[in-house]
Amino acid sequence: MIKPEAMAAGHAGKILDMITSKEFRVVAFKYTRLSALEAGAFYAVHKERPFYGELVDYMASGPVLAAILEKDNAVADFRTLIGATDPAEAAEGTLRKRFAESKAKNAVHGSDSDENAAIEGAYFFSGREQF
Ligand code: CMP
Repeated sequence: MIKPEAMAAGHAGKILDMITSKEFRVVAFKYTRLSALEAGAFYAVHKERPFYGELVDYMASGPVLAAILEKDNAVADFRTLIGATDPAEAAEGTLRKRFAESKAKNAVHGSDSDENAAIEGAYFFSGREQF
C-alpha cells in the first residue's frame, strides 16, 4: 500500500516504477480511501501500541493505492525494497529512505508474512479483482 502522505506528495509514480523495476507482478490494484473504522481493522494487530490512534487517523487521512504483488520470495524482497520502518534507519536506495517523512508517515506498507499478505489482500480485493 502506498500511504496517504506519499500519495499527497505525488510520489506514487516513482514508487510504482521502483516496485515494477524489481520484477514484482501486479495481481490487483486499487485507488481507495480507508475510513477510520477500516484503518483500525486493518491495523488491529497494533491495537495495544501507543501509536495506534495516530496510525489509524493518519491512514484514514487521504486516499491510498493498494496492490497485491507477486514474485518469488515476495514478502522478504518487498520488505528489503521498502526498508526499515523508521526512514532514519532505512538503507540507501529503499523506498522509505527516499520517500518517507517519519516513522509514522513512512510512505509504504508491506505485509510481514505470506499469511498476512493473503489476509491483507483479501481486505482490499475480491477474487474477481485479482488477475
Ligand atoms: P507499517 O509497516 O505499515 O506497519 C505498522 C505501522 O505503524 C508502521 O508502518 C508505521 O506507519 C506505524 N508505526 C510503527 N511504529 C511507530 C511509532 N513508533 N510511532 C508511530 N507510528 C509507528
